[in-house]
Amino acid sequence: MTARPTIIDCDPGTDDAIALFLALASPELDVRLVSVVGGNVGLDHTLRNARAVVGLTGRAVPVVAGADRPLLGRFVPAAHVHGADGLGGLALPGGPAAAPGIAVDAIRSLLRAAPPRGVTLIGLGPATNLGLALAVEPALAGRVAEIVLMTGAQGEGNVTPAAEFNAYNDPEALAVVLGCGAPVTLATLEVTHQALCRAEEIAALRAAGDGACLRAAAAIWERTPPASRSGGLGMAQHDACAVAWAVAPHLFKSVEVFAEVDCGPGPGRGRTVLAQWARGGRAANARMLTELDSAAFFTLLNARLAALP
Ligand code: RIB
Ligand code: CA
Repeated sequence: MTARPTIIDCDPGTDDAIALFLALASPELDVRLVSVVGGNVGLDHTLRNARAVVGLTGRAVPVVAGADRPLLGRFVPAAHVHGADGLGGLALPGGPAAAPGIAVDAIRSLLRAAPPRGVTLIGLGPATNLGLALAVEPALAGRVAEIVLMTGAQGEGNVTPAAEFNAYNDPEALAVVLGCGAPVTLATLEVTHQALCRAEEIAALRAAGDGACLRAAAAIWERTPPASRSGGLGMAQHDACAVAWAVAPHLFKSVEVFAEVDCGPGPGRGRTVLAQWARGGRAANARMLTELDSAAFFTLLNARLAALP
């Protein structure tokens, strides 16, 4: 098996942290860069958190700062979910210094040096960094093997009735990514809520090992409030679903869709329109994940986190 050269763009964020642990523990991925965007909390916190998580794994992966605001307007943070610091108040040792430069340049230079369809992009936050890179240099889409995004919802959003958080925070950037021509896979709220972390899953994780990364992940889970959408049962592991698709696609079922996003100013802003049938003659431009083998997902997650330092 050849590991997939991969860039992870994220806004840690409690679930981003779990997703980063999974990615950095998985031999299927050759993570070349972690780029950071504002979103769940401000860029100052998301950058520090990404550095801390990468540092805890001991992996020598550069972490680079990106956008602290969307293409238009401001990010609407989610500190009520992730805590003011973005990790539920969990204090982690500071990780390595951030790499010099900015995300959009680092992403573009990695893609420029890659062969056709050579790099997988995994987007776990507002798509601002990815959208900027692909808008500035559209030809780079040809160097992208697949763009896997945690974004959007078929039905009700989690920020407004219409919109999921990442899509809502930068719909214009998402529109650029959806239209770039590279293969796109979407992990929407409907599939991420099948990866629901409850007390049982936390206990199983703690029983799986005793390394610093595993214990940090368990502590993050213990600090994250259950999602009201789950009836208070647990926390959806949104971002880890996107990484799990890249690592173990057999855990999922999916359908082809024509995906677009509402960039208007009204109540529908950030809504993802994911059409399986009524495509109006337009060919599908994305794969949408629909079903997850949840038990196998958590078994994989526990095994990979147990293998980390
Ligand atoms: O809607 C969930 C998404 O928004 C996740 O990526 C979470 O980290 C937040 O960024
Ligand atoms: Ca995120």
